[in-house]
Amino acid sequence: MSFLDKLNQRYATKAMNGEVVSQEKIDNILEAIRLAPTSSGLQPFEVFVITDNAIKKQIREIAWNQSPVTDCSHLLVFAAWDNYTADRINHMFDLTNEIRGFKNEGWENYRQQLLAGYPPRDAEENFEHAARQTYIAFMCAIAQATFEGVDSTPMEGFDPNALDTILGLREKGLRSTILLPIGYRDAEKDWLVDLVKVRKPMDQLVTII
Ligand SMILES: Cc1cc2nc3c(=O)[nH]c(=O)nc-3n(C[C@H](O)[C@H](O)[C@H](O)COP(=O)(O)O)c2cc1C
Repeated sequence: MSFLDKLNQRYATKAMNGEVVSQEKIDNILEAIRLAPTSSGLQPFEVFVITDNAIKKQIREIAWNQSPVTDCSHLLVFAAWDNYTADRINHMFDLTNEIRGFKNEGWENYRQQLLAGYPPRDAEENFEHAARQTYIAFMCAIAQATFEGVDSTPMEGFDPNALDTILGLREKGLRSTILLPIGYRDAEKDWLVDLVKVRKPMDQLVTII
């Protein structure tokens, strides 16, 4: 099956059956997140993998009572940095130098450019920038889950402040952005499972110039 065939089969699963996804598939999905491109390679977020039923239940209460939150196998929570600090920027630049084993003048100039530009900015603007990066990794996770034959539900329908409190994210300098329950569909309970996918025609989406 081609990648496009798999993307056509993927859908935002509305009901899951509680079946556990193998650790190998979960690891592959997490690796796809790790490999996601991010602005300047800063990877300004962390991902929390929730399997604890009591925590899932608490989260469902502040996530519009959406059943995949508790009926999934693993609930991924994407949490962006609440701000860009010099320490956070330096950490990623130092890591790059350490892994590549050399310092590059252009790269070091770029570090200084970010250090001069990001930390002085408004924290909210920096958080919004970091939050956008989580969506890229989020889509990598969805695509890898699809590749693995695993269902998922992209989810913005929750109260991020309440979730931050449940997981103690603010104390870690993080703010939740999106949820991704991962698991297997409950076809009998899922109203969306057999409905035709709706997308705009290509000519309303793409302009060739
Ligand atoms: C960022 C984002 C947030 C979403 N939030 C929710 C959500 O909270 N609950 C839900 O059931 N679906 C949610 N969806 C799913 C969309 O409604 C769905 O992807 C869209 O209608 C297209 O349908 P399809 O994914 O089944 O092809 C979200 C999707 C995205 C990308």
